[in-house]
This record gives sequence, C-alpha cells and structure tokens, in this order.
Amino acid sequence: MTTSYRLGIIPGDGIGPEVTAAGLVVLDAAERAFGFRTERTTFPWSGEHWLRTHEPFGEPQLALLRGLDAILLGALGHPNVPRGLLERDIIINGLRRGLDLYANVRPVTLYDLRLCPLRDKRATDVDLVIVRENIEDVYGAEGITTAAGTPGEAVSVEMRFTRAETERIVRFAFGLSRRRRQHLTLVDKSNAIPIQQLWRDVLEEVGGGYPDVERDAMYVDAASMWLVLHPERFDVIVTTNLFGDILSDLGAALAGGLGSAASGNVHPGRVSVFEPIHGSAPKYAGQGVASPVGAIGAVAMMLDHLGESGAAAAVDRAIRAAFASGAIAGLEARDTGRSGGTMKVAESVANAVRG
Ligand code: IPM
Ligand code: MG
Repeated sequence: MTTSYRLGIIPGDGIGPEVTAAGLVVLDAAERAFGFRTERTTFPWSGEHWLRTHEPFGEPQLALLRGLDAILLGALGHPNVPRGLLERDIIINGLRRGLDLYANVRPVTLYDLRLCPLRDKRATDVDLVIVRENIEDVYGAEGITTAAGTPGEAVSVEMRFTRAETERIVRFAFGLSRRRRQHLTLVDKSNAIPIQQLWRDVLEEVGGGYPDVERDAMYVDAASMWLVLHPERFDVIVTTNLFGDILSDLGAALAGGLGSAASGNVHPGRVSVFEPIHGSAPKYAGQGVASPVGAIGAVAMMLDHLGESGAAAAVDRAIRAAFASGAIAGLEARDTGRSGGTMKVAESVANAVRG
C-alpha cells in the first residue's frame, strides 16, 4: 500500500501563494520519484481573509489542523491589517503555542558558495542549525503600561522561562547535534539577564546524558560576532525565542539572504509547520519573481519530518544542482526574473528531483 500523508496548506498573503505553489510542484515530483502520496487541504487564513471576515484564529481552526501530518505555510502579513495582529493570533499564540510546536528549527544552509557574503569561505564553512525555543520568553505578551502619556510612562513585559520547557528544547538540540557534528552551543545573555542562568544549568544537566556531544555556551553579542567571523565554529545553536529570532536572520544573511532560508516549527511525532522564513513581501506579489528556494527548502524539511528522508535529501541535492547549472541565477527578485520566474525555478528543481 502506498503511504499517504495528510497535509494542510496555508498559502497566506503576498508572495506566499506563489512560493507555496512552487514548493508543491517540487513535492509532486518527490512523490512520484519516491512512491508516496499526499492528500492536501488548503486553508484561507491570511491578512486578506481577516480583512474580509474579521474571523479570529483560535481553537476551532487549530482543531482542523491537529489531525494532519504536517502543514506548509507560505507567508502571513498584510499592510492593511493592524501591526502584530496576525503575528500574535496566528503565528505565536495560534500555530506555535496552540499546537505546542516548541522547537523552531532554522538551518543555515549555503546551497552555493556564490551566495555567501563572507570573504575566503568554503561552501562547507556555513552549515549550522539554529534551534530556537518557540513558545516562551517575552514573545506575544501584552505587557503592562502605567502612567500612559505622562513623562512617567512605563512599559514592561515579563521574560519568562520554565525549567520544563528549557529542558525540552535543550534535549531536542542535543538530539539534533548527535545526528550532525556533535557540537552544541548555547547562546544566552546570562551575564546581564541573570534569570538566564537557568539555561546554563539545564545545559549542564541535560548535557550529562549526551557525553558524545561537545557543549559550550556564549553570550548573544559575542555569538553575533563569531557567526560572521567564523561560522564554521558552529554546528547546532540552541537559544531563546527572542535571540533565535534575531540570530536566524543573521544566519540567513550568511547563506544568501531571506530568499533561501527555511524553517520548521516542530514537535517531533506531531503535526508541525514548515515555512520559508521570508515574509509576504507585498511589493513583489503577483509578479512571479519571488525566489521559491525558501519554500522548496521548507518542503524538504517537511519531508524529513514525515520520515521521507530520501526524498528530503533529493530535494536538497536538486536545489544545489539548480544553482550549479545556473537554472537558479540567484535569490533576488531580479535573479528569479532572469531565471524565468518563480515557477520556472521550481520546475528546474522538480526536474532535478526526477533525476
Ligand atoms: C519569524 C518572524 C516572527 C517571529 C514574527 C513575524 C512574529 O520574525 O518567524 O522569525 O518573530 O517569530
Ligand atoms: Mg524573525
């Protein structure tokens, strides 16, 4: 019997639908080449949808997703929707917290040396994964405002970490390191934010169970510097929600920019969400010039999560081949234009998957 996976597709806003369609062309090719199937349900949630319906995103929507195997997300964000609304309701409190997707996995993968802005690096020097804690920290909290509008106005928000969550994410990161180069770096700011000592304690405690994985720790300011100067010193980074957000854009820049970076919001063994890390980029929407590489990378990560690791590796190789042959000229809109557009790029990758 052919294995079939149930997928949810959330194309979203702006360039989201275009890059998602491109990702699905590659998925089609992978299905045929590797002999599995997917059953896909498309959901309308987006800024457009919110402007039409003002429908909140909550438990009824999440209930539709819980029975699925994986979700592919394009991009959410619309210039006419109040700032932060979709981010808070759908991404942070909805998908990430609602589905308990506690690990945000953000590989920094250099598909082609020409994409690297650093001097004198080899292709293998930029190859790391940022594991970002995905449900705690200062994220998405209302915070408190007092004496609003007066010179004494004060705003505050709680930075909160629990031992259970910190242990869970650190354990996940050790597990991932074991499958890579056995080196885990904790990134925090425990010199200036003493509560983050919890992360150091947990690193030591959990690390005892992974004697084969070398561990170290670094403050986030220093980590930013070392990522630029010596990315090769990193294998897996585990860090807080906020620092992971910032470092993962830096990481994406080391591999050519947001156009190629993919991420997974993961809970092993449960429905998880895969997406390119770029946003909806309204100014490029509808022109077929957005790079689909991030969305295709998200398809590869999704395949890996589903257990189709052969197909995942084939998609990864196909992206590299498409860069090497010039079928993908680069990651900017003008490069995708020169390559014949978003769908043309996807078809080149799909062809390479077919072999
Ligand atoms: C990301 C994004 C989100 C985040 C925004 C859109 C809330 O920047 O996924 O990195 O900060 O987590
Ligand atoms: Mg971000």
